[in-house]
Amino acid sequence: MKSRGIEKVLVTGGAGFIGSHTTDLLAERGYQITILDNLEPQVHRGKKPSYLNKEAKFLQGDVGNRETLKPLVKEADAVIHLASAVGIGQSMYQIEKYVDSNTKSTATLLDVLVNEEHEVKKVVVASSMSIYGEGEYFCERCESKAHPGLRSESQLKKSLWEHPCPACGSPLKPIPTPEDKPLMPASIYAMSKRHQEEMCLLIGKTYGISTIALRYFNVYGSRQSLSNPYTGCAAIFTSRILNNREPYIFEDGNQTRDFIHVRDVAEANLKALETSRADHQAVNIGSGQPRTIYELAENLITATGSHLIPKISNTYRKGDIRHCYANVTRAKELLDFTAKVSLTEGLKELIQWASQNRWGAVDLFDKAYGELKEKGLA
Ligand SMILES: NC(=O)c1ccc[n+]([C@@H]2O[C@H](COP(=O)([O-])OP(=O)(O)OC[C@H]3O[C@@H](n4cnc5c(N)ncnc54)[C@H](O)[C@@H]3O)[C@@H](O)[C@H]2O)c1
Ligand SMILES: [Zn+2]
Repeated sequence: MKSRGIEKVLVTGGAGFIGSHTTDLLAERGYQITILDNLEPQVHRGKKPSYLNKEAKFLQGDVGNRETLKPLVKEADAVIHLASAVGIGQSMYQIEKYVDSNTKSTATLLDVLVNEEHEVKKVVVASSMSIYGEGEYFCERCESKAHPGLRSESQLKKSLWEHPCPACGSPLKPIPTPEDKPLMPASIYAMSKRHQEEMCLLIGKTYGISTIALRYFNVYGSRQSLSNPYTGCAAIFTSRILNNREPYIFEDGNQTRDFIHVRDVAEANLKALETSRADHQAVNIGSGQPRTIYELAENLITATGSHLIPKISNTYRKGDIRHCYANVTRAKELLDFTAKVSLTEGLKELIQWASQNRWGAVDLFDKAYGELKEKGLA
């Protein structure tokens, strides 16, 4: 169902992981799609991906280039803005690149929307759970919520992984993180995602362009770059397993995240495009289910039929959070969105795809980890 005069959709970053699945879904529903993507070498290794939807118009270019962007915005009824550089650790030593690619490019997009002629009625911007920093916690003894910052280095050095209650010292319990949790981005990447979200919501509201920020949790599935060692752990573990190396787990493996399959995220993007109830709001897009990193590694190993045993390293990375999973009430109420793909089903899809695309599964974990160590971040 197309809504309110939206037919032509510009998808920035549409050659990427989430963008390509979103494009496929939009094409299926009869939208006319234009993709603007700079084919970031770290993600695409210089090649246009073979999975690009044939019905979409593709243009290689940078969102930060105003002259490239102007005619595309002029032709569009809606923009789904997914283009970003996407490595948390890497953003802590490639600061200029991340601010440029994410904050500055979004500024260009908004500047074009405010100052040039167009018919854009809707903007959906990709935000991220990383802007929360730590998730929301509860102290059972104090019977109150807690919002701890990052763990101190002296705590991590003692392998004390869990957060103690700042008031009474007993262990805090992670609870679902709602959208109104104070934002505490703990990396340049996360700060740039916060900027993208807040700039888009502000300009959208000021100029009456319906705008929604979707805070995706940990997205996994086919087409996630297996050669980019700076992205999600499902892809990193998959690369290692396919190269017959055990997944390397930081801390003790009991840290939790909220894994959501990319097809569900594409569905959420479509709902955001077609629904007006969530306009001018930020909405969590997660499964609502916390999973330990160890569990993820084990599930991947089982799904590949391998006999590897995950390596629990008891080492840590500066800036890593311990727990965060989504409170999904707002997504359900405003977008009528609930994640449908189970972790078992989703990981099977990822492995199946990765096995057929082994050429992409270059295990560059050592390179990425080496860089973090060199910069004193691990
Ligand atoms: N994958 C996740 O777990 C996750 C979680 C939270 C948020 N997000 C957000 O979702 C969006 C999509 O991420 P993804 O996982 O699909 O990553 P991806 O790297 O697969 O896709 C991003 C795409 O954007 C392109 N790109 C980057 N900078 C660009 C620029 N300046 N101009 C034009 N194109 C550019 C890249 O070439 C790539 O194709 C990003 O905004 C990311 O921050 C992803
Ligand atoms: Zn307490």
